[in-house]
Amino acid sequence: MKEKLEAIKETALKEIEAVSEKASLEDIRVRYLGKKGELTQILRGMGALSSEERPIVGKLANEVRSAIEEEIEKISNDIKEKEKKERLKSEVIDISMPGKKQTIGKRHPIDLTLEHIKDIFLSMGFSVEEGPEVEKDYYNFEALNIPKDHPARGEQDTFYINDNLVLRTQTSPIQIRTMENQKPPIKMIAPGKVYRSDAVDATHSPIFYQVEGLVIDKGITFADLKGTLDLFTKKMFGDNVKTKFRPHHFPFTEPSAEMDATCFVCNGEGCRVCKGEGWIEILGCGMVHPDVLRNCGIDPEVYSGFAFGFGLDRMVMQKYAIDDIRLLYESDMRFLDQF
Ligand code: DAH
Repeated sequence: MKEKLEAIKETALKEIEAVSEKASLEDIRVRYLGKKGELTQILRGMGALSSEERPIVGKLANEVRSAIEEEIEKISNDIKEKEKKERLKSEVIDISMPGKKQTIGKRHPIDLTLEHIKDIFLSMGFSVEEGPEVEKDYYNFEALNIPKDHPARGEQDTFYINDNLVLRTQTSPIQIRTMENQKPPIKMIAPGKVYRSDAVDATHSPIFYQVEGLVIDKGITFADLKGTLDLFTKKMFGDNVKTKFRPHHFPFTEPSAEMDATCFVCNGEGCRVCKGEGWIEILGCGMVHPDVLRNCGIDPEVYSGFAFGFGLDRMVMQKYAIDDIRLLYESDMRFLDQF
């Protein structure tokens, strides 16, 4: 029996040593030490031994068991260690490699200019309002004194969704929405995207930005309009800029005007930015038409007000002397990096 035990030990250890996977180790353990394992069978047969032999064989059997267990443990640890080393090797990070450069975005010149404009009007007590870009025909035209047959509709080549819905052609509908929702006094600006079915060229884009303004209170006069817009223009372009108002026509204001400012680059001398004129056109404005007030449930006998609107893109182009509107929408980092 002793020889048998020795033989088991020898083959078991050899087998274990040759193993390179954990699963095979478990097979071996079951084969020798499991319930039906070779060593277990021998221990079961010990009853047949004499009382002198039994403790000697028992001791030897236990030694063989421990030897097999220890070897399994040792090889199992070796395998674990080897796996760990391989994992570390495959996951190695070469910290001497140059990193990937992160490109950090920039604020767009339209956004920068709009922030400046908002700051100026907020400091004068205006609020900032918003409205939908897909707008009802009523708000975009009708309520602003532009009925279906009005020629002003033709000037604003419009994207119609259906008879009653348009992509707004101007931010002026936000005037109407604000007057419907708030009681005077009202002092607000409304910046936003507007849409016109224009072919793209250096000065036209089917999407552009406008900023609308509205002031309604008791006793508001054209002097308030001039004072407010002159102050805005000075804060925007510089203290020595002068403004002038030319009569104009808008359906929703009466009287209406366009405001020009002396060119902030050449101080009115004439240069590339003002195309030699000395003046640049800044915005449209006027006293809110009594019919528009009535459309919004405001009594024109009690309240009066002024409104204005301008193209933000054009103001950005003037401010930074950009001669092509397409640059503002092409997302070319070589251009945008300059701001
Ligand atoms: N909505 C006008 C346009 O798109 C701009 C404008 C002019 C707005 C005069 C006004 C205003 O509120 O009073 O041409």
